[in-house]
Amino acid sequence: MAPLIVPEFPKARFRRLKQSAALRRMVSETQLTPADFIWPIFVQAGQDTVSDVPSMPGVQRHSVDRLPDLARTARDLGIPAICIFPYTDPALKTQTCEEAWNPDNLSNRAIRAIKDAVPDIAVMTDIALDPYNINGHDGIVRDGVIVNDETVDALVRMGRAQAQAGADILGPSDMMDGRISALRTMLEADGHHNVTILSYAAKYASAFYGPFRDAVGASGALVGDKKTYQMDPANTDEALRLVQRDLQEGADMVMVKPGMAYLDICRRVKDAFGAPTFAYQVSGEYAMLKAAAANGWLDGDAVMMESLMAFKRAGCDGILTYFACDAARALS
Ligand code: PBG
Repeated sequence: MAPLIVPEFPKARFRRLKQSAALRRMVSETQLTPADFIWPIFVQAGQDTVSDVPSMPGVQRHSVDRLPDLARTARDLGIPAICIFPYTDPALKTQTCEEAWNPDNLSNRAIRAIKDAVPDIAVMTDIALDPYNINGHDGIVRDGVIVNDETVDALVRMGRAQAQAGADILGPSDMMDGRISALRTMLEADGHHNVTILSYAAKYASAFYGPFRDAVGASGALVGDKKTYQMDPANTDEALRLVQRDLQEGADMVMVKPGMAYLDICRRVKDAFGAPTFAYQVSGEYAMLKAAAANGWLDGDAVMMESLMAFKRAGCDGILTYFACDAARALS
């Protein structure tokens, strides 16, 4: 960067360029558009059913038949992608998680329903075993240990079923070692050369995921915590090494998660690799802004836009956010 030249007062008056909306817009450094958003949607069983997620005011779970209308709404707002998260019937959860690669599970039916009705919106998935695991963990548990390599085999089966259902973007969120390489090898071997991978590369063991676990029905199930595979919030260099590793293994895009408390990681990742970089403004971040707004303590719309702009300023190319539709509406 060139040396900063700032003349002395009164030659320099920073307020000159702040005096009108027109001048402020002219010199605005960062733009937020609906194309920056990926909208996470929770899916549940049933026909024309919808339920509220109490810890995420304004967020609902929908049955598969309702998804085409939601996808059309998102597309018409200019949102390029939807990410699907299933609420799995507890009766389908097992130790071995085979519902994860059932071609007719909720998630795969949701992918097909959206791609049939609205082919021009991109559909992203989640790859992790937690919705299907009786232990609530992202990997298979044996004698209290989350076993890595056996989990990767299961994740590959899961990713294959999602690619066959028509997913555009696979989102491995499991944090096992070797999963990106295994998924990429499977996709090439199966002829899915154009299926992309957005790796949850720097995913922290965070307490901000609480409301999400309610939304997908995984809270009650989780035995222990996820600290043997998700990152320690104290670490930064490890995030860069994980991102580098996932890019080398064949990820097209990478993610930092959670978002607002990890903007330093977003900036470092973008600067170091220049790869398409996304952040997940997770359930707890959404819940916290919504709760303060509901109490009249914050202006909900203003903090929504300010928080999303912060991700762009930190170098992100896009944001997974439960605010996607509200923010897109505010921008249009
Ligand atoms: C599943 C997964 C989680 C989230 C996305 N995918 C939860 C977790 O890792 O426990 C959290 C998203 C959110 O909080 O909004 N592995």
